[in-house]
Amino acid sequence: MKISIKNSEEIKKMRISGKLASQVLEMITPYVVAGITTEHLDYICHNYIVEKQNAIPACLGYQGFPKSTCISVNEVVCHGIPNNTELKHGDIVNIDVTIIKNQYHADTSKMFIVGNTNSIAKKLCYTAKKILYETFSVIKPNIPINIIGKTIQKNIHKTPFSIVTEYCGHGIGKEFHEDPYILHYFNKNNKILFKEGMVFTIEPIINSGKSDVICMDDSWTIKTKDNSLSAQYEHTILVTKNGCEILTKRKTENIKNIYINM
Ligand code: MF3
Ligand code: CO
Ligand code: CO
Repeated sequence: MKISIKNSEEIKKMRISGKLASQVLEMITPYVVAGITTEHLDYICHNYIVEKQNAIPACLGYQGFPKSTCISVNEVVCHGIPNNTELKHGDIVNIDVTIIKNQYHADTSKMFIVGNTNSIAKKLCYTAKKILYETFSVIKPNIPINIIGKTIQKNIHKTPFSIVTEYCGHGIGKEFHEDPYILHYFNKNNKILFKEGMVFTIEPIINSGKSDVICMDDSWTIKTKDNSLSAQYEHTILVTKNGCEILTKRKTENIKNIYINM
């Protein structure tokens, strides 16, 4: 296992990649309305990444994935393939964007609510965001990376929701998925410590029902086994001297103490 530590030149590039990925989610926001297909949302993102950002959509062709973004609606947990079904009022939608700029990846996702939705769905989306944000304050050099899983599990236990254990955060840089892998649940991996210059994602997925998931016949789309709703937020994070920096933070995003301990 080789964990890459980014030097200052690489960090500059990753900041640029992070900003671009976040801007795709900002750009797509007004389009996430009832009646649009997820395929069309993907098409808009694709064109924006390629033409406006002069960047590469990393998902397209990644291990054979056919589209430029993952769009996961309601009971779809992750890796939803954009298709011709129309969004409808009340849907909850995750759009997951990974771009490559100057050879460096950045990976981020957020939930969108189509129109208005019921209170459980809203609470699920809000909790998915909160559970991600609550990990930021525990990241600093020389702390074991399993603090992330411990923190998420401790916090999710205070809610009626469950945490999916099949998918994890990952190191990111020249590769889409690098070491270290970051588990979102309690684990005993206390050997790897955060180091200044490490860059990785945190991307916990929570379900309104049970945590079990199943893979569809297309071999990509993952759904909740009990058809309950699922929600996820993801950011790409840099470990700094005393804390962390959220490389994919959106302009409008209000993360308290984002440069924690800096
Ligand atoms: N963006 C996903 C992640 O957070 C990975 C998607 S891989 C794809 O790691 F092939 F489905 F696009
Ligand atoms: Co990721
Ligand atoms: Co992602």
